[in-house]
Amino acid sequence: MNNKTVIVTGGSSGMGKYMAEKFAAEGANVVITGRNEDKLTAAKNELTAISTGNVFIIPMDVRKPEDVQRMVEKTIEKYGTIDHLVNNAAGNFISAAEDLSINGWNSVIDIVLNGTFYCSREVGKYWINNGKKGTILNMVATYSWNAGAGVIHSSAAKAGVLNMTRTLAVEWGIKYGIRVNAIAPGPIERTGGADKLFESERAAKRTINSVPLGRLGKPEEIAELAHFLLSDKAGYINGEVVTMDGGQWLNKFPF
Ligand code: HXC
Repeated sequence: MNNKTVIVTGGSSGMGKYMAEKFAAEGANVVITGRNEDKLTAAKNELTAISTGNVFIIPMDVRKPEDVQRMVEKTIEKYGTIDHLVNNAAGNFISAAEDLSINGWNSVIDIVLNGTFYCSREVGKYWINNGKKGTILNMVATYSWNAGAGVIHSSAAKAGVLNMTRTLAVEWGIKYGIRVNAIAPGPIERTGGADKLFESERAAKRTINSVPLGRLGKPEEIAELAHFLLSDKAGYINGEVVTMDGGQWLNKFPF
């Protein structure tokens, strides 16, 4: 990834920040985006203190197509090109389906499903217009193909993102050699998902008990996988979703 330019949306915290840290350590020019400029600045300071890679911040909202266009323009202005896009920005909260407001539904669909499309479309157009073979990595969840009881908005949106992964892998693979893959992380420590979804001690315990390997995943493990999937070493992997959940989603009949 030396001298490659990678955009990580939602890169100021959680999994996004750990991926950005790994890419910077591998010599990439890293662009992190997010809605909160202070959080982005703090993340940049943290990342540049521990790594030699370049880190650039772009405050923006993936729900706004004009922000996404600006994200692409600013990145090219700063680093001259874009090689990889990680659609990591997400929104989620627990709610019974019958209690979820229309605005709550729309907010999560807008961030996860629409935001992923806006960013992929804008970066993809840049690659296509410039004859570049970039790679996209989408962050989904095992409930993309399973039930997501309690998070119907996130579950439906991530299912859409998984389909988008496969659809673009075919459509843009055939025509332009662009690769599109996804990671489905299970419960990962030190992430927004873990903080939000496993709030109570009871929920945390139940979660760990559901993982055959008996522990939460580490964001560093996700970052290693993300680095591999973006790299040329994964050059024949296209349209794939790699699950990293300690076997949790397969654990239907715990004994
Ligand atoms: C019920 C809620 C709520 C909650 C928000 N809403 N939080 N309803 N319970 N806890 C409702 C609000 O009441 C409002 O509806 C609507 O959602 C929009 O809320 P806002 O706060 O105005 O929206 P916004 O600022 O756009 O925030 C978006 C968000 C927020 C998704 C609601 O949580 C967010 O920005 N999160 C980003 C970070 C994040 O969630 N990271 C975790 C991702 S983990 P009304 O009707 O009142 O107007 C993940 C994968 C997990 O995605 C996988 C685990 C295995």
